[in-house]
Amino acid sequence: MMKIPSILVIDSGVGGLSICQSIMSTSEKNEQNLQIIYFADDAFSPYGLLEELELEKRLESIVSAMLVLHQPDLVILACNTVSTLLLPQLRAQFDVPFVGVVPAIKPAAKKTLTNRIGLLATPATVCRAYTDALISDYAAECEVIRVGSNELVTQAEALLAGEKISLNVIETVLEPFISEDIALEVDTIVLGCTHFPLLKQQLQEVLPNVSWVDSGEAIAKRVHDLLGQMSHGHTHSSDASLVHQIYFSESLPDQFTFKSALAELGIKDSKLHLLNIS
Ligand code: DGL
Repeated sequence: MMKIPSILVIDSGVGGLSICQSIMSTSEKNEQNLQIIYFADDAFSPYGLLEELELEKRLESIVSAMLVLHQPDLVILACNTVSTLLLPQLRAQFDVPFVGVVPAIKPAAKKTLTNRIGLLATPATVCRAYTDALISDYAAECEVIRVGSNELVTQAEALLAGEKISLNVIETVLEPFISEDIALEVDTIVLGCTHFPLLKQQLQEVLPNVSWVDSGEAIAKRVHDLLGQMSHGHTHSSDASLVHQIYFSESLPDQFTFKSALAELGIKDSKLHLLNIS
């Protein structure tokens, strides 16, 4: 029997599940089975507050431990805050291929009709040198309004934990994108943090006329292309033994609520683990 491909997906919390959702939806279309090994590093969240060296050491420890446990076929850094800083260093450390997630500035610059786009990401991502380079390479013609928010990360975590979230908080965060002068409003906003697509419905409710752009689909395509180049062949989609493995580094959420949220994202059978990595 052929081995089912497996991917290791890492984020500081549940944000990377938005990337898993896009990957699972593509695998369903392609009728290809795939196992997700997800690592939510809640012990070190938010990543945006960590110094570069500490973040690098932390990611190295996680990847090393998970490679031993699961031997995934590839690693997805499902976190813009990490990918915009550490992708080259991590690629150089390990043999396994890495896929990074960075803000979708290029597609947003293609999509905007007004040449005014928003970038909604963590405070760390909005001021990375990598982000400056993306903007000058692909959106030089555009005015880019950058908004950094940790509050939306907290809101997305709350949503998946089954808690009530606040539209007021979301409205306040989005205020800089709204202008009295309609000609000055953005028509396209990049969701440059993987937590934020989990709040898409609420974001749309607050700004219904904006096009929201995220990296999920492009990453899903890249992952499937890479897996297709490896020699798994096609595995049948009804493999009953396929269980996705979800790790937390500090505390486990309520199993029933969280597994239902996972199922809604297309991650149907899952097992939750607590793993303290030092
Ligand atoms: N989901 C992460 C991202 O895409 C959040 C990072 C954080 O913990 O600061 O940037």
